[in-house]
Amino acid sequence: MFSWARFLSSGEDGVVLPSVYFSSLPVLDTTRLVLRPVRRRDAPDIFSYASDPEVSRFVLWEPHRSLSETRSYIRYVRALYHRGMPSSWAVVLRETGRVVGTIGFMWYSDVNGSAEVGYSFSRDVWNRGYATEALRAVISSAFASLPLNRLEAQHDVRNPASGRVMEKCGMKREGTLRQRIKNKGEYVDVVLWSLLRAELENK
Ligand SMILES: CC(C)(COP(=O)(O)OP(=O)(O)OC[C@H]1O[C@@H](n2cnc3c(N)ncnc32)[C@H](O)[C@@H]1OP(=O)(O)O)[C@@H](O)C(=O)NCCC(=O)NCCS
Repeated sequence: MFSWARFLSSGEDGVVLPSVYFSSLPVLDTTRLVLRPVRRRDAPDIFSYASDPEVSRFVLWEPHRSLSETRSYIRYVRALYHRGMPSSWAVVLRETGRVVGTIGFMWYSDVNGSAEVGYSFSRDVWNRGYATEALRAVISSAFASLPLNRLEAQHDVRNPASGRVMEKCGMKREGTLRQRIKNKGEYVDVVLWSLLRAELENK
């Protein structure tokens, strides 16, 4: 049985300033994955899945049409590191060294002690538990290192696999937000999930 209390006590980093945390995202090691800052040379790996319309179907970005679009994305992420702003890790498969996805923060609110996480993985590695493994590592690091009270995630109602990842990580389903966002030309319903610090500490 997975226990957040045991998991958190295994690697306490100590709370740091959010801008310091975001400017040098820690390397997070899991059994099968390494989460580390995105590098320029990740472009071919990221392009190989970010160009897949099935991967981008329920996320807010369009499929990358060229390697240079992926390079622009990487420049953007690295600029966020530079400015100490919320951004993403590259998720590397330990066995092969390949980048198979990204996971990270959509936003962070100092005032409310809250943040939102999101993730995308290459279609050829779906349903092997990688997103769950990565999200657990991010949750653990975020609550250990940031003055965070509430972590949110949301997904398109037509993307239940993403909700299942949130559920497996102990997040609670809060409800459906009707036509919350406009994505790829249509208004879509999204499901909102959250995890509170008190829930982690009581597990
Ligand atoms: C959503 C996504 C991140 C899941 O990644 P993953 O590595 O396959 O996730 P995991 O293997 O950890 O868990 C997936 C779970 O969803 C379940 N699942 C898969 N398809 C499903 C479906 N159609 N309905 C319900 N559950 C489904 C799997 O069975 C698994 O649950 P289980 O362990 O109880 O069997 C991946 O599909 C993805 O990158 N999609 C494209 C980008 C995206 O949509 N990102 C999320 C934006 S909110």
